[in-house]
Amino acid sequence: MSYTLDVSHKAPLSAVYPALIAVSVINHSIDPAANPVIGTTFVESDLVSSDNSTHPIALKVENDEPIFGTKAVLEKLLATHGSVLKGANSKGGKLEEEWITFTATRILGADYRAATKAIEELDSHLTLRTFIVGYSPSIADIAVYGALRGNTQFYSLLRKPTYINVNRWGKYLESIPSFSQAIDAAKAAEAAKKAAATGGKKTQSGNFEIGLSNTDKGVVTRFPPEPSGYLHIGHAKAAMLNQYFANMYKGKMIVRFDDTNPSKEKQEYQDSILEDLSLLGIHGDRVTFTSDYFQELYDLCVQMIKEGKAYCDDTPQEQMRDERFKGIASQNRDKSVADNLQIFTEEMKNGTEKGRAYCVRAKISIDDPNKALRDPVIYRCNVETPHHRTGTQWKLYPTYDFACPAVDSIEGVTHALRTIEYRDRNDQYAWMLNALNLRKVDIWDFARLNFIKTLLSKRKLTKLVEMGRVWGWDDPRFPTVRGIRRRGMTIEALRDFIISQGPSKNIVNLDWTLIWAINKKVIDPIAPRFTALWKEGVVEADVIGEEAKETSEEKPKHKKNPSVGSKKVHYGPKILIDQVDAQSFKQGEEVTLMDWGNAFIETIEKDGDKVTKLTIKLHLAGDFKKTEKKITWLATSQDLVDIELVDFDYLITKDKLEEEDKMEDFLNDNTEFRVDGVADANVKDVQQGEIIQFERKGYYRCDKPWAQGEKAVFFNIPTGKEERKK
Ligand SMILES: *[C@@H]1O[C@H](CO)[C@@H](O)[C@H](O)[C@H]1NC(C)=O
Repeated sequence: MSYTLDVSHKAPLSAVYPALIAVSVINHSIDPAANPVIGTTFVESDLVSSDNSTHPIALKVENDEPIFGTKAVLEKLLATHGSVLKGANSKGGKLEEEWITFTATRILGADYRAATKAIEELDSHLTLRTFIVGYSPSIADIAVYGALRGNTQFYSLLRKPTYINVNRWGKYLESIPSFSQAIDAAKAAEAAKKAAATGGKKTQSGNFEIGLSNTDKGVVTRFPPEPSGYLHIGHAKAAMLNQYFANMYKGKMIVRFDDTNPSKEKQEYQDSILEDLSLLGIHGDRVTFTSDYFQELYDLCVQMIKEGKAYCDDTPQEQMRDERFKGIASQNRDKSVADNLQIFTEEMKNGTEKGRAYCVRAKISIDDPNKALRDPVIYRCNVETPHHRTGTQWKLYPTYDFACPAVDSIEGVTHALRTIEYRDRNDQYAWMLNALNLRKVDIWDFARLNFIKTLLSKRKLTKLVEMGRVWGWDDPRFPTVRGIRRRGMTIEALRDFIISQGPSKNIVNLDWTLIWAINKKVIDPIAPRFTALWKEGVVEADVIGEEAKETSEEKPKHKKNPSVGSKKVHYGPKILIDQVDAQSFKQGEEVTLMDWGNAFIETIEKDGDKVTKLTIKLHLAGDFKKTEKKITWLATSQDLVDIELVDFDYLITKDKLEEEDKMEDFLNDNTEFRVDGVADANVKDVQQGEIIQFERKGYYRCDKPWAQGEKAVFFNIPTGKEERKK
């Protein structure tokens, strides 16, 4: 059974949140192998039912008439997904239904006074209960909370300390990720809609309401990738934010390669990062390298040693980690300045055997509660790998913790944007600048992008490449800019999505649904349409009737957008039809052959359930509005093109890998699904990278164009709606 939820952008949020939360709870708690995920689509228009009334939401269940309205949708979801939507120990869901009615009659559409009364009742109901029904959150909580949350006034009532029980209940629900995610997703969709509505320069519209402070002397931002991997969607956000603020304050942005660890860095990565940035429309005002400052950084370290602010330490790594953890001073902490200088400028600088045993540590604190302040390492030797820019000139390299604040200050950066994972290191950053007597830099934290079932750790991604789980860094299952582009994401959608996320500092695990839904809006109006059939079980049909002649005709590639061009549609007395369509036919039924006209199914030959042959009689005078089935078909008189349609699943099986989880335990063994097909002759000309639609099958990006004797390969592009693969 496949379900989708349509949500009107015009609807009040009160009427929308309950269903969105319910869907989010379902999507996050069911066994995805057994239950298709419910997709959500935000639509611009009202949702109109057959009696012409408008509704905020509609639930579509396969080919049935959609279910309209908050109450009916919630009841349907309760009926079909009771296992996750009923409270623990509740009896049959009857009480839950009563609370759905309560929501519909007492909260939705209520005025402030009526809502106050409803909340008072709820508060007394919750006196001895944690949840409205049973011993776990149920659709009763979802309905009531969602409806209150969607109305600003009611929401402030909910949070009023006087309603002590409602207050506690609300806080608990808010802490459940599937609740907050549903609301974040709705807000993001709203923001994306606003961004789209402003058109043209939409990506520059002011969605980051939270600006920078101390901007009166100008703004210089920087994006500092390490050239040790390919750019992924998380980097894309950082880069876009930096560019955004530089533009907003008419300042400058620096792209700086933070190349301080030759063992991990390569020219290849550097080139790819620049290429991907330029695809994203990001061109720094300057491109710089931390390695350009190796001499300055070295001198600064000497200065720190001379001032007694740093010392050389040869404590073995394990022991150092242990001492830092326990807050114990290193035995080298009080080494004399002269000794430290000798070790740093002679042994470490020359990369001697003795020097290689040492590192330099900033003398900040032994036991500060913030562990980032416990004498961090600022310099270490590396003689194994030549640096990709400075070769073997240097045997010792600064760490990120030291180089980043120093170079930020030297290059004139005014605002350093960092993800909030670095918040613990903000004090350390400020300490370095102070110790070095360098100009201060403002730090501005933002939340990093996280997606469910998606790894963004460079280390883990590298491992997947090395394990052969993917084809490479541009694998369509990878969250790299290259990977998602190869899967069919447009840069425009990526940009809209990131801007719509704004400056949120909450780390949420986003669903991919939303970003693919935005992408669909970008590609749908411009993707040319072609026809493809599944090769397996394809049925041959004889077409009879006077018009069943071999001929061809020019037709638009996109019915609503003639500028996409035209294609040749072939007609003839022998056509192919998908097995699943053939099986749905009844003898004598009138169907519509798309781009041709109506026809009657005359005879159906079968072998068991399988249809082996059809005879179809054309009835071109028939009204296509009256037929239920619009069928894709291909005339055999043309040069049919062999194709392969490929779909993918997530690489990991868990929504969010925790620190203690071993990646290997959560790898999805089956992530690539290939099916053979045949397509119309026009598909021969589809180019690599082109995004198209195979009618009634979906959107695809051509990964490998057709060549004599070789199949064309197409990757399915998610639209945020489809079922997960089996
Ligand atoms: C380090 O190298 C310099 C220059 O090559 C040399 O003068 C000095 O003796 C070396 N020091 C050590 C400890 O090897």
